[in-house]
Parts: sequence; structure tokens; C-alpha cells
Amino acid sequence: MDKIIWTEQLSVGNDAIDKDHQKIINLINTLIDYHNSSILSPNISDILYEIISYANHHLDFEETLLDELGYPELSLHKEQHKKYRESTIKITIEVSNIDDDVPDELLEFLKNWWVSHILEEDMKYKPFLQNKLK
Ligand SMILES: [Fe+2]
Repeated sequence: MDKIIWTEQLSVGNDAIDKDHQKIINLINTLIDYHNSSILSPNISDILYEIISYANHHLDFEETLLDELGYPELSLHKEQHKKYRESTIKITIEVSNIDDDVPDELLEFLKNWWVSHILEEDMKYKPFLQNKLK
């Protein structure tokens, strides 16, 4: 499976958010590297735990920042985050019941969600953020 390649196209123009996104992408890429390991191995559970906890920290940070700056589309954006948190927990519990390699289903979900969320949803606040923080 192809890894996610960070390019400027994924930049939302804010260092803190870009660094968070890069860290999450690196974690997903690490999971892709270890896709032949059992989902129940300590290595994989550590990476999964880090993806879930770091993503939670990041989504909270993004919501707080946008809230403080008065982003008008925040409630819609928060709704997307909420769906992600719910889907991640659901899919992680589902795949953790099977003692097998890291399933493509989980990797595809994480890859697709983050890339499309950054390109389609996070990009919507880019001009607003740049205007507020300049
Ligand atoms: Fe977001």
C-alpha cells in the first residue's frame, strides 16, 4: 500500500497544525510499514494507541483555536471530527477482534479520512486563519 506523501498542497498555512498533520501522517505511514504484523502485537497496539490519542489531542487543539478566533463554520467542522472519532473507535474495536495482519480496511480508512479531511475541510479555514493570524 502506498504511503501518504506530505506536499505543500496539504499545508493549511499554520505551522502548529501542519506539524500535527505531519505527525499523524507519519504514524499512519508507520502503520503501513508494519501492515504484515498481527493487529494484536504490542508494536501495532502502541502505534494505534498513539494515532488515536494524538489525533484526539490535535482535533481538540484545532477546535479550540478556531473557536477562539471565531471561525463561522466551526460547528460543521466539529461534526466532521466527531464522526471521525466515532468511526475510528468503531473500526479499531472491530479489527482488534481478529488475530490477523493489520487490515487494509483500517489503513484505507485512516489514509482516506486524513487526506480528504485536510484537502476538503481544513482547507476551508485556511484563508480565514491566515487572515486572523497575520
Ligand atoms: Fe479538521
